[in-house]
Amino acid sequence: MKLIFLGPPGAGKGTLAVLVSETYKIPHISTGEIFRAAIREKTPLGLKVQAIIDAGQLVSDDITIELVRERLGKDDTKAGYILDGFPRTIPQAEALAKIVEIDAAVNFDIADDGVVARLSGRRVCRSCSQNYHVDYMKPKVEGVCDKCGGELYIREDDKIEAITKRLEVYRKQTAPLIDFYRSVGKLTEVDARPSSAAVLEEFKKLFPL
Ligand code: AP5
Ligand code: MG
Repeated sequence: MKLIFLGPPGAGKGTLAVLVSETYKIPHISTGEIFRAAIREKTPLGLKVQAIIDAGQLVSDDITIELVRERLGKDDTKAGYILDGFPRTIPQAEALAKIVEIDAAVNFDIADDGVVARLSGRRVCRSCSQNYHVDYMKPKVEGVCDKCGGELYIREDDKIEAITKRLEVYRKQTAPLIDFYRSVGKLTEVDARPSSAAVLEEFKKLFPL
């Protein structure tokens, strides 16, 4: 199953992608995660994109498309995958259509106030990237990852100015993808407001195993 996860920042794409990846045994490919790993490791790519990402802007289409093309060439993608955060612009969607035919684009729908509440309370593990939330998904021990014991931190782009910028960028550049995938009969809508367990149940009904 080849899926795209669409939706505003903070909709819960990454959280659900982890659950879907475990349930359906397909890899979770997050362009945001790939960029953050490159920033952590201070690779040439990381150094190039850090300021752009911290400010809540998009990395260029050329860089992002090449990165995804390379990732989709790896062996673990044969049985399918979840593309989380890609495509994010019409040129990226057009480029992807030339690489592969996806099965569905799943749009996670949530209003701006929900986004702000989720992003401003998000905590992320520095070692394994697991997501937490100070109110909705608390770790057992404050500041420590349940899965690997790593330290939890606040993403630079989860500061309020960057959240506002990301929502603006989403509306202008990414939201048009909803109509793009609707027009080719690939769009599936999911209400992203309930708990992640409830959203997973809804997802399983839409995509039976
Ligand atoms: P990326 O990492 O993709 O960030 P994003 O799209 O802004 O999305 P988020 O990761 O912030 O939100 P999410 O929907 O995954 O929510 P999450 O599950 O964490 O991209 C980062 C940056 O990289 C971009 O700004 C851009 O610069 C660059 N980039 C990436 N891809 C690119 C591309 N294709 N082109 C160009 N540039 C690109 O959940 C959020 C919080 O809510 C968490 O705290 C979580 O615990 C909580 N939560 C989740 N689900 C629920 C729920 N159901 N109920 C209650 N709380 C919940
Ligand atoms: Mg994410």
